[in-house]
Amino acid sequence: MAKLPILEFPDERLRTKAVPVETVDDEVRQLVDDMLETMYDARGIGLAATQVDVHRRVIVMDVSDERSSPLVLINPEFTPIGDEREPLQEGCLSIPEYYADVPRALRVHLKALDRDGQPYELEADGLLAHCIQHEHDHLEGILFVDYLSSLKRDRVLKKMQKRHKMLQDA
Ligand code: NI
Repeated sequence: MAKLPILEFPDERLRTKAVPVETVDDEVRQLVDDMLETMYDARGIGLAATQVDVHRRVIVMDVSDERSSPLVLINPEFTPIGDEREPLQEGCLSIPEYYADVPRALRVHLKALDRDGQPYELEADGLLAHCIQHEHDHLEGILFVDYLSSLKRDRVLKKMQKRHKMLQDA
């Protein structure tokens, strides 16, 4: 396994729309394993392939407290159940140290393939439902700051520019 570099906002590559995985082969499984290692190392609860500059529809997640329940979503599709929405505080490994409330569907029905290419379905609510929607957005080139006011987004942009300058100068 290998840790992969994570792209950070406002990198334009985060705006790429990912293509479906045709076959879940060893190469895809390697990607999944590397993404899980990268996510756990960064203490994230979800990571989309887009964030490691691979533009295929692959997501890994683990919303458990014990960090022991990895979930693999290949070619995920979800539909909201009902029209209840709730705001929840979100963060993103591509926008470190920034958090904001984002309203999303409270419950979703998910269809995806697992690490072996087997289809599965599940119903999610709360944090897991939010995470599915957040990560799915990444595959579409959407970031959670896109839902904020332009004033807030500008502030995030400035903060990130400062961070990148600091990292560069270090
Ligand atoms: Ni994210």
